[in-house]
Amino acid sequence: MKFEACEIDISANKKDAELLKIDPQVKAETDHLYEGVKHVMPYDEFVIHAPYIAAINRLKKEKDAVILAHNYMTADIFHCISDFRGDSLYLARQAQKVPQSLIVQCGVHFMAETSKILCPDKKVLIPDLRAGCSLASGITGRDVALIKQKYPGLPVVTYVNTTADVKAESDICCTSSNAVQVVEEIAKQWGVDRVIMVPDEYLARNVSAQTEIKIIAWKGACEVHELFTGDDVKELRAAYPGIVVLAHPECPNDVVREADFAGSTGAMNDFVFTQKPKQVVLITECSMSDNVAIENPEVEFIRPCNLCPHMKRISLKAIYECLRDEKYEVDVDPDMIVKARAAVDAMLALPPRNANVYDVKAIVPDTFELVSA
Ligand code: 13P
Ligand code: SF4
Repeated sequence: MKFEACEIDISANKKDAELLKIDPQVKAETDHLYEGVKHVMPYDEFVIHAPYIAAINRLKKEKDAVILAHNYMTADIFHCISDFRGDSLYLARQAQKVPQSLIVQCGVHFMAETSKILCPDKKVLIPDLRAGCSLASGITGRDVALIKQKYPGLPVVTYVNTTADVKAESDICCTSSNAVQVVEEIAKQWGVDRVIMVPDEYLARNVSAQTEIKIIAWKGACEVHELFTGDDVKELRAAYPGIVVLAHPECPNDVVREADFAGSTGAMNDFVFTQKPKQVVLITECSMSDNVAIENPEVEFIRPCNLCPHMKRISLKAIYECLRDEKYEVDVDPDMIVKARAAVDAMLALPPRNANVYDVKAIVPDTFELVSA
């Protein structure tokens, strides 16, 4: 198996923490938070984070900011400083609902852009501008325009893991938690039996196995999930008989077919909460297991995983500096916002449903097609 070791470098935090005083006030402000992370973090490590945690929570109050954290954030961020935690769809909905006019997006750039598109009057910050996504960087708005020329009359369904210019060329957005619903709904609205779905080939394959609607997809991939293979899952099952395997639908279809359950990060989280499997593995980004394990101490987690280098750019130090200096602001051109917003709004206008659960045994039909610009 070629999973990366799940180790996160805390040395930068360690060095900077010396500059931030660890005093009785910090201890008083943070000790209760240790309870929440003690299953995944020794106290010696927590005290390195504590000055940042205290400073961020103070600044957040002072500036009336809100911190939105994706499920792939490390446990110190996820459990000790964030206000809302969840999958990309949930975070987009929260950005719109919260009263605060300063949003710190702890996730990757497209998530911050989505918040800006939905809340153009709010100030949206991302702690590290380099926090990108291989899916978002693998397609441009021009690519989408060229695909539309090839297939006139077909709607474009765009995964939220894209830049604003790609969304601006699209008819509706989706996330992994509503992709099947979105594909079926837009096909019905347009009176067609085929849709274009960009940019994730694997998500598109997994969705096409769940619906009668034919899918034309782009050849993009998540650099984290594409590394998993069906053989990895077979090896896990051999090593841990009876283990329950959950996979994200950005994984290749052979991984999903070997899993017991497939769904968004939010759906995987709900599965563990409601089903309480004895032993489980989440085939996805590394931090997800820590975050779910903390709230399900009775479940044993087996933790092969792959790190998302983009998500891991978001550290407590970066968040502290982000709030202190109000950097880095994510801006989107106002004309682009109008066009991209139509696609995001079309998705949010669909009736909220439980997160899509993918039938792992469903087969990708022969009608599945790949397109290049
Ligand atoms: P979710 O929509 O499941 O949160 O996934 C976003 C993502 O980037 C997964 O790699
Ligand atoms: Fe993008 Fe994959 Fe990282 Fe998610 S895990 S942000 S899809 S590169």
